[in-house]
Amino acid sequence: MKTIGIIGTGHVGLVTGACFAKLGNIVSCFDSDFEKIEKLKKNIIPFYEPGLSEIVKIQKEKKKLFFTHSIEDVVSASEIIFICVGTPSNPDGKADLSFVEQASIQIANALKKMKDKKSSKKNYYRLIVEKSTVPVLTGQWVKRTIELIAPTGIDFDVAANPEFLKEGSAIRDFFYPDRIVVGVENERAKKIFKQLYKPLNAPMIFTDIKSAEIIKHASNSFLAMKISYINAISRICDKVGADIEKIAQGMGADKRIGKDFLKAGIGYGGSCFPKDIRAFISIAEELGCDLDILKEVEKINTEQRKIVVKKAREFLWNLKDKNIGVLGLSFKPETDDIRESPAIEIIKLFFQEGCLIKCYDPKAMENTKKILPNIEYGKNAYDVAENSHLLIFATEWEEFKRLNFKRIHKLMKTPYIIDGRNFLNLEKLKEIGFICCGIGKKPGGL
Ligand code: UGA
Repeated sequence: MKTIGIIGTGHVGLVTGACFAKLGNIVSCFDSDFEKIEKLKKNIIPFYEPGLSEIVKIQKEKKKLFFTHSIEDVVSASEIIFICVGTPSNPDGKADLSFVEQASIQIANALKKMKDKKSSKKNYYRLIVEKSTVPVLTGQWVKRTIELIAPTGIDFDVAANPEFLKEGSAIRDFFYPDRIVVGVENERAKKIFKQLYKPLNAPMIFTDIKSAEIIKHASNSFLAMKISYINAISRICDKVGADIEKIAQGMGADKRIGKDFLKAGIGYGGSCFPKDIRAFISIAEELGCDLDILKEVEKINTEQRKIVVKKAREFLWNLKDKNIGVLGLSFKPETDDIRESPAIEIIKLFFQEGCLIKCYDPKAMENTKKILPNIEYGKNAYDVAENSHLLIFATEWEEFKRLNFKRIHKLMKTPYIIDGRNFLNLEKLKEIGFICCGIGKKPGGL
């Protein structure tokens, strides 16, 4: 059992804290957002993540998980302190590390207060861990910031332990990781991490802090590169009538390539890939290294959204005043997160073409209404389909697979479907009477 502090209760911090509590540790969480902490105290989770609210509720009842407005309480109670604050993009793509700096200063000040209060015999050792995704060399700055402020006699290590949780399956990813990456400076920190993660029985990769920081950026960028690669190939499929799904299957069966993240579609979105790739390009440039390969990855991703408009034009001829139904708003299923969602970007493109948009999503409607108040929202998929000229499936929610497509066909003005995620059975849709296509995929004989 360890005492753990979490600074920042966003997606990463809250999932990490709740799961460490479930493993038997005592976890206290701080966030500078007063309202967020008040809500968490009442078991109100600020976002949707399957299984998370149950864990939070139970671990709070078991007195393993606490939420507080006092960072001093967290620092004083915890041997290991995870920095889980946001690292958003600056307009130039560079990661904004002001929250990491602020957290480091707050931790250092809290260490100072703790030393003033307690007896000199007390053990003041703290392990301060970067969990947020940060550019290489951030660890050095965290260490230097704390060293400058914290009083002598405070013993601490800095470490990097990047997270690889996916939204929508974050709990599972925490308990069954492919690997745990830890960047440390000495054996003492390494030993603590070994004890902390022992219950997960997962492979652990120990390295220096800088390498751990790069592993995270390089992993997300590589996954995004796989997606853009398959999307680029899907364009050839569209030209010649080949099937991108079969191509991904054929490629992915080679273990050296692997089948995951080869799903063609309208591109990647979310709070991680777009931001992390920009930050990785930016730090590489600062270091005088060229990562133009990632600029191409971004370019392909942006173009994937435009391809949907092009396909719509091939179906509908003139787009102005056409009713476009968009099903799915979140950047992927099982989340209400719409940050950099391809669906939202596609809606904006159709809006510019003078189309009338109606949309629906099982979880992300409220978030979307805040940024797109001027489009129509349907009660369900059928409501969106009614009188629409074209339906675009932008997120592969399970419930969309089970729709009654015969009913949808009757409701629509013209029977056009674009499957932006290649998850529908196009052959069946064609049999019903739809004229449809995916991305790099068409029903036979179209
Ligand atoms: C991603 C990484 O997968 C996690 O390992 C990492 O911890 C996380 O970022 C992070 O840095 O915090 P996440 O953004 O939750 O996780 O979502 P993914 O499942 O990776 O999907 C990202 C985007 O790629 C989605 O828009 C998804 O639809 C798209 N995608 C994914 C494809 O278009 N094709 C694929 O084959 C896979």
